[in-house]
Amino acid sequence: MKTILVTGGLGYIGSHTVVELINSGYEPIIVDNLSNTSIDVLNRIEQISHKKCVFYQIDVCDKVALSSVFEKHIIDSIIHFAAFKAVGESVEQPLKYYQNNIGGLITLLEVMQEKGIKNIVFSSSCTVYGEPDSSPVNELSPIKKASSPYGNTKQIGEEILTDCGFLNCVALRYFNPIGAHSTALIGELPLGVPNNLMPYITQTAIGIREQLTVFGNDYNTPDGTCIRDYIHVVDLANAHVKALKFIETHPDNLFDVFNIGTGEGYTVLDIVNMFEKENNITLKYKIGPKRAGDVEKVWADNSKAKTQLQWQANHTLVDMVKSAWKWQLALQESK
Ligand code: UFG
Repeated sequence: MKTILVTGGLGYIGSHTVVELINSGYEPIIVDNLSNTSIDVLNRIEQISHKKCVFYQIDVCDKVALSSVFEKHIIDSIIHFAAFKAVGESVEQPLKYYQNNIGGLITLLEVMQEKGIKNIVFSSSCTVYGEPDSSPVNELSPIKKASSPYGNTKQIGEEILTDCGFLNCVALRYFNPIGAHSTALIGELPLGVPNNLMPYITQTAIGIREQLTVFGNDYNTPDGTCIRDYIHVVDLANAHVKALKFIETHPDNLFDVFNIGTGEGYTVLDIVNMFEKENNITLKYKIGPKRAGDVEKVWADNSKAKTQLQWQANHTLVDMVKSAWKWQLALQESK
């Protein structure tokens, strides 16, 4: 059984990936500093998978602590999620982002080099494409200047990984993950006021927020609101399993990158309407000003992931909006 170190393994995407790793016969070792999640998630992963998980509360910037994990376990590959991800916060506190996202990556890579481990899957983002000239974007589309320090940490992260010739690395460029596990035991746990669309919608629907503000309706799109490629978090989690298999079967790969999105673009109002219809809810929302730094439209050409990773998205937008609501209801009940 292959052992996979999952940094940030109790976060939103990390927790769903740990479940899919166990389902696929891997042995995950979870490292998380709990800065943006709760230890409860560990119990919930164990409830879903009926398996005890190894967990270390460690910050990936702490080299001594991180090294000790490699001394206790024979690690085959790493999936590196641990990073800050709030775009707005990164503009206010850029150094916090560079320190954690770049510092954490470098520390991890140093430990990997010292221990002779080369396999790594890196969490990247479609944010590296900035405002693309056209969509769908493929992996050869130009990398545009990042619109935030957060986005820049993903671009720099990819560059660092490209330069590290000792690695066998796959970077996955995530589009917009939403939804939750079908058991409603794990999902997105935003601390404070959510930045992202789906948790804002579900919190509004349940009454935690007064109303949703749709950021702008005069974009050059069919209904004037921005277009994104929303992907179910379980499909995204599965892409990591496929990426590991790709690495296993391509031992001489140095660095490769794959878009992980459904290939379909939806507007903000499409998401609101679908959420209302499928969950039989009327959502309070208003149109507000544009949000600084928002891209007008972006969706993925995912053909490279389909052909080379043998990955595909199996969940529909209906699954996404329903599972997100089911998760919000379960969260409310567990309080
Ligand atoms: N939106 C609203 N109201 C809200 C929140 C969002 O109208 O309250 C709109 C945004 O303007 C955007 C769309 O919903 O048009 C999606 O916004 P999100 O904040 O959910 O997602 P983003 O596309 O801005 O960014 C997300 C992550 C980033 C990541 C990026 C690309 O937050 O970390 O996807 O991967 F980099």
